Amino acid sequence: MRIVVLVSGTGSNLQAVIDSVAAGDLDVEIAAVGADRPGTYGVERSAAAGIPTFVVDFKDYADRSDWNTALTKAVAAYDPDVVVSSGFMRIVSAGFIDAFGGKYLNTHPALLPAFPGAHGVRDAMAYGVKVTGCTVHWADAGVDTGPIIAQEAVSIEDSDTEETLHERIKVVERRLLVSTLASLAAAS
Ligand code: GAR
Repeated sequence: MRIVVLVSGTGSNLQAVIDSVAAGDLDVEIAAVGADRPGTYGVERSAAAGIPTFVVDFKDYADRSDWNTALTKAVAAYDPDVVVSSGFMRIVSAGFIDAFGGKYLNTHPALLPAFPGAHGVRDAMAYGVKVTGCTVHWADAGVDTGPIIAQEAVSIEDSDTEETLHERIKVVERRLLVSTLASLAAAS
């Protein structure tokens, strides 16, 4: 199973995938890692691991539609079976979903459909829920919407800050992403 992983930042979930592949625990080929801006640690660590990388910089395009077309072409060039949005913080267009719909996987640090968007951890804390978690789902053109594949709960402690909670969620999220990819690879 060939995957292309899209990142916007640190890429610690991506690193878990890279490590699992390197350890022989996950039978997928990471065909490429792409980002929506230059200078992400996600791209840096992929390049260090010898994985092809690309950047389709949002700032280089006149509008969202042009950027989406360029992103769709860049991803399609690697002919992926599954595209993984792993901390990719941009909404993709219908054109991208036309190309990769049904095989565009997203991870989110909340129990969807609660707390979608860029601040899922912060929003859960602000609401005052006592349990949040993470979700791996097939993404569509909405904001963190689409059929749910796997979820796991994480309790919120009184002493939590957004950072401590997000880090605890990410520990679970990395495991859930790797196990979901393993199940998909086994079924492919
Ligand atoms: C992850 O927690 C991911 O779920 C979240 O960004 C983080 C990226 O961490 N994505 C979203 O909030 C999407 N709405 P990472 O770069 O260390 O993997």
